[in-house]
Amino acid sequence: MSSNQSADGAELPGVPVIQDPATAAALLSAGGLVAIPTETVYGLAADITDLAAVARIFSAKGRPTGHPLILHVADVETARRFGVLDARAEALAMLWPGPLTMIVSATEAVPREVTGGRDTVAIRVPEHQLTLQVLSTLDGAVAAPSANRFGRVSPTTAQHVIDDLGDILDPDRDAILDGGPCLVGVESTIVDLTCDPPQILRPGGVPSPLLDRLLEPVDGSSIVAATGPARASGMLPSHYAPERGVVLVEREDREILDPEALVIDRADDPVEAARHLYDDLRRADTSIDRDRSEPIVVVQPPNDGGLGSAVRDRLKKAAAPRERQTTNPTG
Ligand code: TXA
Ligand code: MG
Repeated sequence: MSSNQSADGAELPGVPVIQDPATAAALLSAGGLVAIPTETVYGLAADITDLAAVARIFSAKGRPTGHPLILHVADVETARRFGVLDARAEALAMLWPGPLTMIVSATEAVPREVTGGRDTVAIRVPEHQLTLQVLSTLDGAVAAPSANRFGRVSPTTAQHVIDDLGDILDPDRDAILDGGPCLVGVESTIVDLTCDPPQILRPGGVPSPLLDRLLEPVDGSSIVAATGPARASGMLPSHYAPERGVVLVEREDREILDPEALVIDRADDPVEAARHLYDDLRRADTSIDRDRSEPIVVVQPPNDGGLGSAVRDRLKKAAAPRERQTTNPTG
């Protein structure tokens, strides 16, 4: 059953949920927005050569304009048309398709409306067969930030996209390409190669020791954590937040907690913790008694290392004080 059918099979109004990559590519070529599945999270895609469609990404998400968008391309050859890949970028490109986004110098082929006026661009090759078919058919690039509304956690299923954007997307022009649940479940690792040494702007699907191992033979460089002002929304202290309060606790401290708190504990399996993280947080929002003023979703975070680091990063942001949420852009 497609997600915009009711239980008795009747079509509900709303944006079409499709499974065919050729249809998705045709909609993108015609200036539509298509939510595309990736291994990390769903992205909201527009062809970068269609500036009206790119502008609609910002309004659909409620994202402030001027915030740079990630490009998605089918392969490394196509990436070279849009970004200047130096020796370090070429070495890291062996992780594509995969959950790694590189910030590099943008070529003239990238409209500056997509980069928020910057001369740098974020690029990745996502690992999802349907989306790779869409990108090969287009033979270009789509801009695709995560397909969530401002302030919501990222979507990892087509249903999450419907929940956030179903009423906002245009049923006559746009669609959601349903590729099933995302296998990684947290966003890509973002590495900024325009600085020396390279910096990690957002921990994600690729662990940083792996990046070090690939970079070391090139110029002896190793990755460092980001410094300086926030350049990616994932660098802000509060981000990836569900509506309900979140607290992080270690297992031994649980008995001090409100017995009615919803507990999420996937700490023993960081891969599962990542895969289900956003669905857990979204379910927490809908399953908790709204009359209670107090939170709380209680989460036992996995240990640092591998995907555990990305999950801890997102959970810390979900648990951070919220004041900043209204004044800072989120992705
Ligand atoms: O896994 C992912 O990366 C997902 C899937 C859909 O590919 N995309 C994603 O996009 O998480 P988004 O827009 O939610 O997060 C991308 C981050 C944003 O924080 C944005 O500010 C940053 O990348 N970014 C994009 N271009 C940049 C640039 N030129 N310099 C610095 N940061 C940039
Ligand atoms: Mg985002």
